[in-house]
Amino acid sequence: MNEARWYDLGPVEDLARRPLQQIAVGRTKIALSCKDGQFGAVSGACNHVGGPLGEGKLEGDYVVCPWHHWKFHCRTGEGEPGFEDDRVPSYEVRERNGRLYVNLEPAARRNKKPHAHHPLERPAERAPGPMRVLGISTTVMDPAYPRYSTSEALLETALEAAGREHAAETRCIRLSHLKFRPCEGYYSKSAHACTWPCSITQMDPTDEMEAVYEGVVHWADAILVATPIRWGSASSLYYKMVERMNCVQNQVTLRNRILLRNKVAAFIITGGQDNVQAVAGQMMGFFAEVGCVFPQFPYIAHSRGWTAEDMERNVAFVQGSQALHEAARELAGRAVDMAQILLATPYEPEHIARAGRKGCQGTAPESPAMSAAVEEG
Ligand code: FES
Repeated sequence: MNEARWYDLGPVEDLARRPLQQIAVGRTKIALSCKDGQFGAVSGACNHVGGPLGEGKLEGDYVVCPWHHWKFHCRTGEGEPGFEDDRVPSYEVRERNGRLYVNLEPAARRNKKPHAHHPLERPAERAPGPMRVLGISTTVMDPAYPRYSTSEALLETALEAAGREHAAETRCIRLSHLKFRPCEGYYSKSAHACTWPCSITQMDPTDEMEAVYEGVVHWADAILVATPIRWGSASSLYYKMVERMNCVQNQVTLRNRILLRNKVAAFIITGGQDNVQAVAGQMMGFFAEVGCVFPQFPYIAHSRGWTAEDMERNVAFVQGSQALHEAARELAGRAVDMAQILLATPYEPEHIARAGRKGCQGTAPESPAMSAAVEEG
């Protein structure tokens, strides 16, 4: 048994003012709680990915981690009922002459109970089989009463061509059919709070963004994304999706882990009014950031121009335009061709630090929370 290492935390009166606080004693982070006049001290580093427990909140006798809401008893460090074995270190405290002391020699040590891995966590390895083309329609509509969408119609034409003319397997995800939460900014809490799979996906079994992650990361060789133009931008559902794909991109910046390798992206953009090139630029910028490459001429688009207000004519125009549907077929062909080239000669450079991003300079100081992740009580 190691000797006690008592450390003076300060006046009881001051420390009792806050129900929960994070205190650093050297490299040891402590979540100090005070409930009904009773102090408790447990490690300030969460068992999950090191969240600063003392910056969370007290719920009954449990400290709730501010990152993903795991709970640990504020005095024993045990996980919530059902997860008691998953515990963070706890520390003795005692009051002497109006001051609070903590014994830095833990009363109970950390124990991490293995948690089942999320199926998306498996290595992103291409399973053998034919070329795979994933279509993602980002137009917003009521699935119960669908309307004709010009972007979705051209996507269907492209997918049909990928299957019939290029013997590819195809799938189509319509974002309007999925219920998924917007990105809630875990990266803003801490870089390490943004996890793969997405923190929301891991915590909320009803969230259906998993279908996109599965298709994009584990299945597709080529991804065709279709969007209408809304106020000069891609659709709101497109942005909701790509914000949730922050976790894919953050794996590159945080861990040099490239989830999308040797995959092709191409785009279909239609709108009654204009701004095609700006929309294409935004979409290409994002998919480049997550590691996709593009076929030559990576998008097709159609717009009737700034003054067009008669959208029903736009629908009729796209329905009847052989040129646009032929362009969609050709886009699918270019995407499949490029995906085949990548499959035949995979481009896997030995090392590109964090995809060459400016974040690779390594000049940013480690946040306290990041160092908490490695602290052991
Ligand atoms: S719940 Fe604490 S770091 Fe995720």
